[in-house]
Amino acid sequence: MEETTVRSLPRIGEKAPAFKAVTTQGPIDFPKQYEGSWVILFSHPADFTPVCTSEFMTFASLEKQFEELNCKLVGLSVDGLYSHIAWLRTIKDKIAYKGMKDVEVKFPLIEDITMEVAKAYGMIQPGESNTKAVRAVFVIDPKGVIRTMIYYPLSMGRNFDELLRVVQALKTADEFSIATPADWRPGDDVIIPTAGSCGVAKERMESKDLTCYDWFFCTKKLDKETVLKAIKK
Ligand code: BEZ
Repeated sequence: MEETTVRSLPRIGEKAPAFKAVTTQGPIDFPKQYEGSWVILFSHPADFTPVCTSEFMTFASLEKQFEELNCKLVGLSVDGLYSHIAWLRTIKDKIAYKGMKDVEVKFPLIEDITMEVAKAYGMIQPGESNTKAVRAVFVIDPKGVIRTMIYYPLSMGRNFDELLRVVQALKTADEFSIATPADWRPGDDVIIPTAGSCGVAKERMESKDLTCYDWFFCTKKLDKETVLKAIKK
């Protein structure tokens, strides 16, 4: 009888799969040691490759901005620890790219030569590669719950403004019990939950404090300063 492969991939709203591993910054107990912080766990296909190098330099350069949002960074590839160390040293010592140079990657980079972690997170996608992780991004909240997952193919470098925006939007939604519309940035109007009754919907349509496009689609102002004050740390 043919064996059926059951693949269980993580999903939004579920606990991030737990693992222990070795990293460039020592051992990691994930997500336990990040309790109380947001964390982005991301994979890259291979050390010493150009797209990944551009991504690591960008991520490292933005680390302070993620830190201000109480968001830590953790990288992973199926390369070994000595490859990771040699690659990060090359980046620091030799690569100048788009105004970035002397870039030190201070966040942990996991070695996953057995692919155990990569498989648990659905980072190995055979249609793209059997031997390398795709560019996966998991945004995990302070309780260890997966809040956003994004997968990119090998050929495409990630948009780091978008990753910052994702953390900002998730934290804003949690803090103010609102939703964020397309392309939202701090300072833009936010969406309030849909009215549960005709009476409330009517009141809203008549309210001067709201902008209603229809009974089910109302926004309110939420100024940038208030948002940034609430989501920083
Ligand atoms: C890169 O990072 O440049 C890369 C890595 C694996 C496959 C293709 C590109």
